[in-house]
Amino acid sequence: MDPDRVIIFDTTLRDGEQSPGISLNTTEKLEIANQLARLGVDVIEAGFPIASPGDFEAVQAIAREVQGPVIAGLARAQAPDIERAAEAVRDAERPRIHTFISTSDIHIEHQLQSTREDVKGAARAAVAHAKSFVDDVEFSPMDATRADAEFTAEVLQIAIDEGATTINIPDTVGYATPDEYAGFLRRLYELVPELHGVVLSVHCHDDLGLAVANSLAGVRAGARQVECAINGIGERAGNASLEEIVMLLETRADHLGFSTGIVTREIARTSRMVSRLTGYVVQPNKAIVGRNAFAHESGIHQDGVLKERTTFEIMDATTIGLEGNDLVLGKHSGRHALRSALEELGFRIDGQALNTAFKRFKEIADRKKTVTAMDLEALVTDELRDELRSYTLEWFDVDVSNRRPPHARVAVRTPDDEQVVGDFTGDGPVDAIFRAINAATRREARLREFRIDAVTGGQDALGEASVVLELAGQSASGQGVSTDIIEAAAQAYVRALSNAERKVQAAAEPEAATAEVELTPTP
Ligand code: KIV
Ligand code: ZN
Repeated sequence: MDPDRVIIFDTTLRDGEQSPGISLNTTEKLEIANQLARLGVDVIEAGFPIASPGDFEAVQAIAREVQGPVIAGLARAQAPDIERAAEAVRDAERPRIHTFISTSDIHIEHQLQSTREDVKGAARAAVAHAKSFVDDVEFSPMDATRADAEFTAEVLQIAIDEGATTINIPDTVGYATPDEYAGFLRRLYELVPELHGVVLSVHCHDDLGLAVANSLAGVRAGARQVECAINGIGERAGNASLEEIVMLLETRADHLGFSTGIVTREIARTSRMVSRLTGYVVQPNKAIVGRNAFAHESGIHQDGVLKERTTFEIMDATTIGLEGNDLVLGKHSGRHALRSALEELGFRIDGQALNTAFKRFKEIADRKKTVTAMDLEALVTDELRDELRSYTLEWFDVDVSNRRPPHARVAVRTPDDEQVVGDFTGDGPVDAIFRAINAATRREARLREFRIDAVTGGQDALGEASVVLELAGQSASGQGVSTDIIEAAAQAYVRALSNAERKVQAAAEPEAATAEVELTPTP
């Protein structure tokens, strides 16, 4: 392999999915994983199989279905975790087990309540055990950047001796600066010369806004795998953003000399899909994928770009797939046209799913002159959300006037296939319909966040609503798409309610309760 080729390890579905409020179901995770494969990532960290039965099922489904990338499952340095991860990734074309344990004294003393000697023993046993299932084993010393380099080096030596093929150095709490991080990696290379014989990887969190800078510093110090997530999602302030590190390596290849296997034209679409399915909005000025990343406001800039794009643009928007997609359908387009348009967008939809998508498409096309690629993406992603055992919105009426408080009446189909009806007089039409849904379902869900965005420009644009709510201590998000924003909001609310209800039920099941773990290893 080219020594300057950087492996892109995507952890959107593992570290990214650990962001508060994100609750992706298996169908949604599969859709993201398939898109990550189209994007050309080298490794997909599909989840943390021991964390819950749902996590296990999703990792297994991805391992069975997604072709191309290595599929990794995360495991603490403990036998049951490793066995669960091994089972989940077993059917992948190229399975990987990623096992980890902390090497910082802060973690060893306070979190693991253990000793350095025990950590060494756990790391040895974990890598050896993982190696008995798969050839491809990654080892991470968690909180490495706050750990003693000499002790971390001893643990890494053990991991390499036991057969680890990738060694990942996490800046777990986003504490390092680029020079420190690069210096730490160089020191490890000195202490463990065998590191030259494995892939060195970087995993940086963004607590101080340095995740991408630290990842680049790591690559320049010799690392050839970058762990990152779409839109930079992840624990707390998130992980290094995939699109930023990739476009940095691509745009400044002249200066840096590195390459990746990423199909950059898929970046914008992957970002939109992850944002939609997770409910995590991309800030407008976010580098690469923010709405304004290629917008020019000042007259001088607009004038310059009109004369010659490169005057104020260092990247071409088409390179990341933001422009150049002219696919348009109208109300006369048939099922065949819809199917080929969806295929062109990378969605393989057949049978009942195609019928449902076609029905939704017709409804939208009746209300909207043209249906664009962005509308189709929103619609199909919207359709994916409905799983078995969900609430569904059947119909609603909302009376709105500026002379009396709005009143909403809704009918919802329950997971037990019963129609329930409720009504409420609220402070506003959206408040009224949300509370009417609570009344119908007899749930005391509390709204935490609500947002509505237009999918495209224009007066007849589709509205995309996003809701985060809390039910019995579980928070969950849901999204809905419609030309009618009240309908989009109500769809989003029932989906969030369904997701929250599933979480409440999973937490109540004894098997799930014992399996539910955090990233807190106990060797
Ligand atoms: O941030 C971290 O340390 C992690 C490890 C599990 C690799 O996510
Ligand atoms: Zn992490």
